[in-house]
Amino acid sequence: MSNAASSDNYTHEITTKTWSNGRHLVRCVKVIEETADVKTFCFMAEQPVMFFFKPGQFVTLELEIEALQVMRSYTISSSPSVPYSFSITVKRMPGGQVSNYLHDNMQEGDELAVHGPVGVFNCIDYPAEKVLLLSGGVGITPLMSMARWFFDTNAEVDMHFVHSARTPSDIIYHRELEHICSRISNFNLSLICARQQTGQAWAGYRGYLDAEKLQMICPDFLQREIFCCGPDAYMRAVKKMLQQSGYDMQRYHEESFGATPVEVEQDALDQAEIAVDIAEALDSADMLNIEFVKSGKSVQIHPNETVHTAASKLGLNIPKACGMGICGTCKVMKVQGEAVMDHNGGITDDDVAAGYILSCCSQAKSDLQIDF
Ligand SMILES: Cc1cc2nc3c(=O)[nH]c(=O)nc-3n(C[C@H](O)[C@H](O)[C@H](O)COP(=O)(O)OP(=O)(O)OC[C@H]3O[C@@H](n4cnc5c(N)ncnc54)[C@H](O)[C@@H]3O)c2cc1C
Ligand code: FES
Repeated sequence: MSNAASSDNYTHEITTKTWSNGRHLVRCVKVIEETADVKTFCFMAEQPVMFFFKPGQFVTLELEIEALQVMRSYTISSSPSVPYSFSITVKRMPGGQVSNYLHDNMQEGDELAVHGPVGVFNCIDYPAEKVLLLSGGVGITPLMSMARWFFDTNAEVDMHFVHSARTPSDIIYHRELEHICSRISNFNLSLICARQQTGQAWAGYRGYLDAEKLQMICPDFLQREIFCCGPDAYMRAVKKMLQQSGYDMQRYHEESFGATPVEVEQDALDQAEIAVDIAEALDSADMLNIEFVKSGKSVQIHPNETVHTAASKLGLNIPKACGMGICGTCKVMKVQGEAVMDHNGGITDDDVAAGYILSCCSQAKSDLQIDF
């Protein structure tokens, strides 16, 4: 090899451009089947970018399905220690629009926009020497990102990962978890399966996580920072168990992927109300007027309905992803009026001071004018 050729090799610089919170175009570069109903999708930016985020944070995907824009949030399951790509791991929800769309359509080479990264559920903002990572089902994703991060960075963190799954074949990242466990002494792994298929061998824990099991599996749990993610019922049970055991709940952190979509609940509510409250519906005294200034449209809503529901009734599509005040996707400017917002960290104090609200979790307390 000549000197000229070898010096040419040094002209190709490694990209050190980093990702920041905002909207980004990314390309799907790999699809991995994790279990029968869970797939991991890996993404890269068109121009190499380093995807830095805090392990546990999430992105919001912007998709176009049947000519409509749809947004959903997904935790970044990879670790920022592998920064040139990131991945999400998605479970098919029966009847779910986006999870099924991704499973059935998303392929290598497909492009889409993502928003983020955001989220207060992460292991960087709550440093600890000893952690207990508790997950159920696909709730494993943020905790896996944390475990991968601690492992890759040789963090001096004593980890205990306790994961609950339906059956042994539903354990997401099973081999990788065992690999980590086999490589370092500061990683303990306990897997619990609710049941097993006929003929399937299982030497791990059986049933559900309860106080007795937790005490047996991880006797020093009271001394650990706890990160928990899983189905709502799982997290409620964990919380109750910890409260009853005298655990310092200041050190407990959880992420919810959301229960029934708010719109669905709202539809159900609306239908029930139509039957029960005909008289009340006719009494317009309680109704509030929501005006969407840019669209020039207004609608009357009940005080317990959200600003987002008001917009939906008018056919106005305010982008929405989590439906629970986490992701910030549905932020709008309130020009006039009083609203009560029950958010989960998806908006900054500065935005609130400037007059923004998250429409998915804001209820009108007077007539409102919204800049949309
Ligand atoms: C911060 C955050 C992180 C998340 N991370 C992950 C992750 O890592 N992995 C993951 O898999 N998910 C994650 N989620 C959940 C994800 O955002 C989606 O909610 C999930 O994939 C379901 O979306 P979907 O569009 O498939 O279902 P949707 O269409 O939103 O429906 C959800 C459920 O409601 C039912 N439903 C919908 N409409 C109706 C109706 N009209 N009547 C009755 N039932 C109805 C559906 O059958 C389905 O079971 C996360 C959510 C949040 C907020
Ligand atoms: S949709 Fe996520 S905050 Fe409203």
